[in-house]
Amino acid sequence: MKKTARAHTNIALVKYWGKKDTDLIIPMNGSISLTLDHFYTDTTVEFDPSLTADSFILDGQAKQDQKLVHFMNHVRKLANIKTFAHINSTNHVPTAAGLASSSSAYAALALAASSAAGLNLTAKDLSRLARKGSGSATRSIYGGFVEWIAGEDDLTSYAVPLEEHTSWKIAMIAIVLNSAQKKISSRAGMQTAQTSPYYPAWVKTANDDLKSMRQAIETRDFELLGTVAESSALKMHALNLSSKPHFSYFMPESIIAMQKVEELRTMGIPCYYTMDAGPNVKVICEEENIAAIIDHLSKVFGKDQLLVAHPGEGAKLITNEGIEAK
Ligand code: DP6
Repeated sequence: MKKTARAHTNIALVKYWGKKDTDLIIPMNGSISLTLDHFYTDTTVEFDPSLTADSFILDGQAKQDQKLVHFMNHVRKLANIKTFAHINSTNHVPTAAGLASSSSAYAALALAASSAAGLNLTAKDLSRLARKGSGSATRSIYGGFVEWIAGEDDLTSYAVPLEEHTSWKIAMIAIVLNSAQKKISSRAGMQTAQTSPYYPAWVKTANDDLKSMRQAIETRDFELLGTVAESSALKMHALNLSSKPHFSYFMPESIIAMQKVEELRTMGIPCYYTMDAGPNVKVICEEENIAAIIDHLSKVFGKDQLLVAHPGEGAKLITNEGIEAK
């Protein structure tokens, strides 16, 4: 069977940064994210008995990817098959935006591969499967606000929707900064970060952050949501600055972007920033303030560097005719 799935990227508001099991990808702490509408991956999987290895095409180019083969072995084990597959993936992320994410990639692959293998997994089991490809993919199975429950093992570590179809008019503006810097993958970065003397405090305070974030979402408290998201991001980056060896994802422009967001707040426009395993800064705001924020940011950044996204949908199977009913 040939199946195609679409999954969107998500942005963590309470970050995942460190694992207690690197093989099964069990995180040290829970995390909460917002799935976005703008950036997504479409992946088609077809198992073919004539293949002697998995074949992978990404954005039209043949690729070798050990992580992907490792993931497909999980799918084969689950479906009790030995067949290899054709995997064809397209990232719908503005070119060179540096926003391509493993979250949409492994969420789409988990759904397409499990369906093509004849499995009909529940959303919970799908999130457990996606987790084995990449931690953040666990959350992209659902739309809107999502929590990844850290758990202790394969059975207990999965995502739950907090508000799949949110009516909250919340938005994210990604400030795309070009980076000539050598990239440190999130996988390597978070492993090094665990050497920080502050790591125990990170894990301890994550539980309070999760509690506050759940409350902010439930009560539509934008100031609380933004304050906690910004603090979680800064704590994550502080781990990087204090690990052995220390490293950082900041570029001079990242700092400028953060200062601009702080300026906007002084001007009375509520907005907060977050940053992941790269130099781009993402601004969290409410719909009504997008125009004013873009106006202020475009004093230092080009309009083409500012991409606006809104809450997006969970992973779906798609056909030529459109979205397949789940
Ligand atoms: C900073 O999910 O890419 O975006 O599990 O090793 O594949 P692996 O890492 P990944 O890490 C994401 C880190 C983050 C924070 C987050 O999404 O929670």
